[in-house]
Amino acid sequence: MSEKAKVEFVALSQILPKAVAGKEAANAKGEAEVSCLVAFAGAAMAMGAGSAKLLEPSAEQIARAARAARFKGKVGSVLDIAGPHGLDFDRLLILGVDSGKDVAASDQETVILGGKVMGMLRGGNVQVLFEMPAPLVCGADEAADFVQGLLLRHYKFDLYKTRKKTDAEPDGALHIKVGVADVEAAVEASQATKAVTDGVVLARNLVNEPPNVLFPEEFAARAKALEALGVEVTVLDEKAMSKLGMGALLAVGQGSRRESQTVIMRWRGTGSGKEKGKKSKPIAFIGKGVIFDTGGISIKPGAGMEDMKGDMAGAACVVGLMHALAARKAKVDVIGAIGVVENMPDGNAYRPGDIVKSMSGQTIEIINTDAEGRLVLADVLWYVQDKYEPAFMVDLATLTGAILVALGQEKAGLFSNNDELSHRLGEAGKATGEAVWRLPMGPAYDKMIDSKFADMKNTGGRHGGSITAAQFLQRFVNDTPWAHLDIAGTGMGSPQSDINQSWGSGWGVRLLNRLVADYYEAKPKA
Ligand code: BES
Ligand code: MN
Ligand code: ZN
Repeated sequence: MSEKAKVEFVALSQILPKAVAGKEAANAKGEAEVSCLVAFAGAAMAMGAGSAKLLEPSAEQIARAARAARFKGKVGSVLDIAGPHGLDFDRLLILGVDSGKDVAASDQETVILGGKVMGMLRGGNVQVLFEMPAPLVCGADEAADFVQGLLLRHYKFDLYKTRKKTDAEPDGALHIKVGVADVEAAVEASQATKAVTDGVVLARNLVNEPPNVLFPEEFAARAKALEALGVEVTVLDEKAMSKLGMGALLAVGQGSRRESQTVIMRWRGTGSGKEKGKKSKPIAFIGKGVIFDTGGISIKPGAGMEDMKGDMAGAACVVGLMHALAARKAKVDVIGAIGVVENMPDGNAYRPGDIVKSMSGQTIEIINTDAEGRLVLADVLWYVQDKYEPAFMVDLATLTGAILVALGQEKAGLFSNNDELSHRLGEAGKATGEAVWRLPMGPAYDKMIDSKFADMKNTGGRHGGSITAAQFLQRFVNDTPWAHLDIAGTGMGSPQSDINQSWGSGWGVRLLNRLVADYYEAKPKA
């Protein structure tokens, strides 16, 4: 979105103290571009052999600076040296990578390292000595993860800023060369990682876009663009949804001037299944796409209401995930389904007291029109289960404020009818840093949404608000393994981190990509 960072791999041997391309080049302001060399060090300034050799001319200065700064090579610490002796770089950044553990860094730690590096850069020409002291590994996969961290940190949504240059970003364009042992392997490993990075960026863009621009039909059009990657995309308009009997979803959108949409995306990375003559079940991801949630007739208070443009973060994640899986040609048959609506107060809006009929045939008494996400998901879950008989369904939704009370913004709430699926989501969460926390479900909670007038009501009161919302969803799931992720805390307005400075976090794309890669993808036989 913002000033593009150009990142490329070069051979480590090409990073030479005297080979600073573009040193003479000037930035937009006519100032000479700053060149920066990045290296990594562990305890006692331990470095890879190439790095140690290259930094030889400034070894004394480095030792002195480290002493002065109490730099011990601890992970997270940085030694920032201006004008390193004998090196033709303006700046030398040495990042500590010593975790105190005698193990290689995890994927997630390597992504974070990339984020930390990017956080220190301000433009110009940068060369990275991607070399680590033992026991750390710096192969192709690590290099790809590192670059993902660089790019995720670099992301900025400034599409609507007409005056972009500020003093905070003085140097403009950024050109980064990452020196690796095997360029070809790094380029190859980066293809899949780049697909995922692009998926996260797509999800972030969708969440950050304003609701006047990203209304339901426009959202559907953005999903439709995935056809270019080979994804099959079907859009159901209001007429099609009426025919299907999606009375719950349609009720939410009926106060809006904009037409509601359900979008079904399918990536058949294992072929259509038909040719092989056996029917294999797809897996399915379902997202809440409320492009703006005013609360409807049960209108929300004004303060902070603008944040409800992010009430489609679940749907954004599903679109970003489908992009990632298709772009890296994942060997999986996967469905992404999103219900996209706008929840508005209006003369034609649905009201508290209304009783609506869902596609499943079950009736719902509306108590609060602000509990709209579950109504949207009820029909999309049912539709996907009924039409595709998936092996499992995972839905994502900015469903309840109560999940923020319970878990803050660190973890998403996980609700499920299946221990194996829950466990796998937990593991994928640990691997990607997109953590989930399972909360209880059960008949006693389910009873809380029984209604006097209909099969159920759409709220269960203040207590256990995230759980009763999940119980509501479960009434639209038969015995299909299912998990619900409440991402009201993690999908938007997230605290800034090493790898995310954006309001829309793109949360869930990396988590679910990992879930698919680790458990559901056909692996080539080794
Ligand atoms: N979209 C909101 C939930 C939300 C709150 C998301 C804060 C992100 C940040 C959802 O539609 C909603 O309004 N939920 C109500 C449910 C209540 C009426 C039962 C809530 O959480 O207050
Ligand atoms: Mn709401
Ligand atoms: Zn909502």
